[in-house]
Amino acid sequence: MKFHCKTFEPSDLTSDLLIIAKFNDRSFSPDLFPGEFGTRFSHVLSTLKFTQKDTDLFISLDHSAIKSVLLINLNPDDTLESAREAGYFINHALGKINSKHIHFIFDGITENLTGLVRSVSEGFLLAAYSFAEFKKDNKRENSVKSWTFLVESAVQVPQIRKTVGNTVHLIKAVNYSRTLSNLPSNVLTPGALAEKIKEHFSSHPQINVKVLQKKKIEALNMNAFLAVAQGSDAPPVLITMIYQSGKKKAKKLALVGKGITFDSGGISIKPSAKMEEMKYDMAGAATVAGVFHALADLRPDLDVVAVIPATENLPGGKAYKPGDIITAANGKTIEIINTDAEGRLILADALSYTEKKFRPDWILDFATLTGSVYAALGSECAGLFSNNDELSAKLRQAAEDSGEKIWPMPMWSRYHKQIESKVADIKNAGNGGAGSITAAKFLEAFIENTPWAHIDIAGTAYDLKSRNYLGEGASGYGVRLVMALIKNLGR
Ligand code: BES
Ligand code: ZN
Ligand code: ZN
Repeated sequence: MKFHCKTFEPSDLTSDLLIIAKFNDRSFSPDLFPGEFGTRFSHVLSTLKFTQKDTDLFISLDHSAIKSVLLINLNPDDTLESAREAGYFINHALGKINSKHIHFIFDGITENLTGLVRSVSEGFLLAAYSFAEFKKDNKRENSVKSWTFLVESAVQVPQIRKTVGNTVHLIKAVNYSRTLSNLPSNVLTPGALAEKIKEHFSSHPQINVKVLQKKKIEALNMNAFLAVAQGSDAPPVLITMIYQSGKKKAKKLALVGKGITFDSGGISIKPSAKMEEMKYDMAGAATVAGVFHALADLRPDLDVVAVIPATENLPGGKAYKPGDIITAANGKTIEIINTDAEGRLILADALSYTEKKFRPDWILDFATLTGSVYAALGSECAGLFSNNDELSAKLRQAAEDSGEKIWPMPMWSRYHKQIESKVADIKNAGNGGAGSITAAKFLEAFIENTPWAHIDIAGTAYDLKSRNYLGEGASGYGVRLVMALIKNLGR
């Protein structure tokens, strides 16, 4: 399917499906279409009930030029998000009819057209995604060949074309991330994740992927990471990616992603209910890989590095155990209280490695780190934890811009008390509530002095029931957020 944009000439429009979007507190313009079709369309509209509460309405017209119409109500209080939802309705409608060439017009909407175009196409492309590799009957693709945005004046056309082009790249990256997350852990082992990433980026010269095997990880003294890997027969890998903008004096952003390809909890084993969801415990890694997919296509003027520690967390015979004391790569000793608090252990070593090796200007980590973040914030937004107010503010702005919501949580030093150990420098779990914050305080102890933010995506990485356009399975959360952040970081 290809997006196009041209000026609206009502008299010579032929379309399989014409989509008309307006704000829900406004009526359709009576004179949108002149002539015979206009009269007919006004008549149809007058017989229909399309109230403020309705989101969309499909009308089959059987007209010679315009076969059917889809009416869309946008919500002026949440315009861009309602445009993403509209993208979902459009995909849904197309699933029921056989349309090849479709057209889209905004009725009475003139403000922020690029934002609206971006959001509708985002919602559509996200909704059209399906994870069907393992289904025999996987032909869910709709029949659309072209989607044309019709605008009032020719000066808008190049802007809209550019916006849609960028959106297509961005959502391809998000959907790439979703597929990595959706893959089951028997297929996506740590080694397979590394291979897939390496293979994908081998055709992109701006991006350099390196995979460190277990021996090298041992040489780096990443004993916290290795402790988690001990219980599994699948060897761990440390994946690094580098994107070089080619710009002199470019600032450097580092991304770290939790890559637990399956989290059984280890010896502190999880209950079986919903344990299958723990294949998504590498969603942070998938976010980072998705960002690199977008970087390869969109090429911003900022250098970006990524570090992904990848392993399973299983209770094998060699598994690490509660009570064990481990010396992390930076020399800090960690008392293991709960082997299910494994994400912070692999991230501890990955964060200190990232800071020392790459000396970035900022570090962001993405991790499905705690069930508590879901208890606190649900699936509406991710938790934001940071040692730096300026970076926090930029992330909050990026969340506004991208629609991938985020909310700051306190990082007061009192919370650190919960993870003070009697026998080691720190312990890997507290027991006084605020589980997401104590996890973040643990990570903070492995950052020396770089502006850093941790984004806990345990509630937003999959099954976003309140977002139709993301539906079931992995959401690719964070890719759009980071790309929006990168736009603002240079400023
Ligand atoms: N991977 C889980 C967090 C998680 C839970 C992600 C639910 C997605 C959905 C993480 O490794 C974990 O098990 N965290 C524990 C920490 C606790 C043992 C201190 C948790 O949140 O219960
Ligand atoms: Zn766990
Ligand atoms: Zn986990």
